[in-house]
Amino acid sequence: MSTVDKTAVPTGDEMAGMTQEELARLGARLDGVELVEYGPRFEADSPAEKRAERQVAKWFLLSAASALAFILIFVMWPAGYQDPFSSRQWIYALFTPLLGITLGAAILCLGIGVMSIARRIAPHEIAVQQRHVGPSADHDRRTLGAELMDTLDKTGLKTRRGVLKSSLLLAGGGLASAAILAPIGGLIRNPWAQGKDSELWVTPWKPAADGTLVRLTMQDGSFVRPEDLATGSLMTVFPGVPGGATASDAAVMLFRLRPNEPIRVRTGQDGFNYGEFFAFSKICTHVGCPVSLYEDQTGRVLCPCHQSQFDIHDGAKPVFGPATRPLPQLPISVDQEGYFVAVHDFIEPVGPGFWESFQGSTPWGSHPEVQPQPKPVFPPFGQLPKENP
Ligand code: FES
Repeated sequence: MSTVDKTAVPTGDEMAGMTQEELARLGARLDGVELVEYGPRFEADSPAEKRAERQVAKWFLLSAASALAFILIFVMWPAGYQDPFSSRQWIYALFTPLLGITLGAAILCLGIGVMSIARRIAPHEIAVQQRHVGPSADHDRRTLGAELMDTLDKTGLKTRRGVLKSSLLLAGGGLASAAILAPIGGLIRNPWAQGKDSELWVTPWKPAADGTLVRLTMQDGSFVRPEDLATGSLMTVFPGVPGGATASDAAVMLFRLRPNEPIRVRTGQDGFNYGEFFAFSKICTHVGCPVSLYEDQTGRVLCPCHQSQFDIHDGAKPVFGPATRPLPQLPISVDQEGYFVAVHDFIEPVGPGFWESFQGSTPWGSHPEVQPQPKPVFPPFGQLPKENP
């Protein structure tokens, strides 16, 4: 152990001969800090030290368990949408809160564990320090570095405390796994696995293999008749097939416009309406929010996410906001029993711009129901749509 003058700044050689603790104390002294108490909190390997170590490790293990619970819930929970009338709705409703609780607990326990190291493991120190201005001198930086390293040494984290290190590693690893799970999880399911019948290319409005047309239903599953809608109103409808109410691309807005209201019909979509009834996809062509705020007087429907507006009187083309494509129109009619049906699936992509990159062509060729659409050309304003017989 070397000795150091209490007031002079030691030379580089003198500092090279000092122990880590001496450098730490020197740094304190030169900064005008008086270390009233400084040293390990417990005797090495004493029962008190082991008890403190277990108490800290407990928080890290709790953090790791919470992160594991988050991962299991994210991967295994039956989180598919359940409508409000279902007896399993609570399962769906619990999914997001459980993710929040477990991830929050993992972060909280890790934080408490780190704070516990400072309170229970790090060296006990009572110091009185004078404030100073300006940058630190070279000897200050060196002694501060030594002080930090000495603190680390005295915690024993470098050489001992296997339980603490393992539990900290477990907590950090669990939290890191939970953080990367969400972005990676979405890549595991292969949307192309069903080829031309992939849900990316068809919607539940597609008629059944035997030609049965899909009825329009309300959210509770009841079929829709023309008399269910008042003039000037809008109803959100779903395909009347299993899973139709929960499919992400199936929600449709059914409008009943005023009789003789001037309407433009997009080229190739004559007869898609049933009299004054028009059905358009509810999925915004910008980034897929549900469009639903309808102003009857102007015939405009608004997307609340980024304020795109679509003119229902003009083929649902965008007239304001970031959306660039019209809302796809669903061809509708009424069956023998007086219920609305979809005559066939949409003839253009539903939702945002993912589709535009394909231009109607897929890795296996052009899909029969998703062909490139010509730029819409509208007939002169004021032309009424053709009525279905
Ligand atoms: S998602 Fe509708 S405007 Fe952006």
